[in-house]
Amino acid sequence: MKKTALFLSAAFLTVSIVGSSAWAAGDAEKGKKVAEQKCTTCHTFGKAIAKAGKVGPTLENGIVGKPAGKVQGFSYSPGLQKMSEGGLTWTEENLDKFLTNPKGFIQGTKMMAFPGLPAEGERADVIAFLKTLPVP
Ligand code: HEC
Repeated sequence: MKKTALFLSAAFLTVSIVGSSAWAAGDAEKGKKVAEQKCTTCHTFGKAIAKAGKVGPTLENGIVGKPAGKVQGFSYSPGLQKMSEGGLTWTEENLDKFLTNPKGFIQGTKMMAFPGLPAEGERADVIAFLKTLPVP
């Protein structure tokens, strides 16, 4: 009995390790298409994508690894401002959580009109694309 449990937890561990490396290796080209369809309603991406939305902060200067809530001239929600003051950084992990469920990650976020990207692969692709910014 004990051995089975041990084996099962080892198997589970392997799956979660493989799973997490899968999201780390998204496809930037696919992610660009997802961003074009699902983010440009509100965000701009500079030279990377011609279509440009103005409701959200521009992401053209890159966002991965940067502190949250620091785009000049954008009026963030109190919820995001608070998390920014608390030192929130857009690591891949935090982006993954935010893009899964924006409202769940930041209370009262202005990005609430965006329902989130439920597909893990799509999120990985978008994050891989965001890592290519800024395009010089
Ligand atoms: C309906 C409009 C809308 C859509 C669609 C949208 N966003 Fe946003 N986004 C916003 C707004 C508004 C904010 C500011 C949130 C706040 O102040 O709480 C924001 C904030 C962000 C931030 C934080 C930026 C910062 O400076 O800290 C990231 C990252 C982000 N969005 C990524 C995305 C990605 C990637 C997509 C597409 C998968 C997307 N958003 C789709 C409106 C949108």
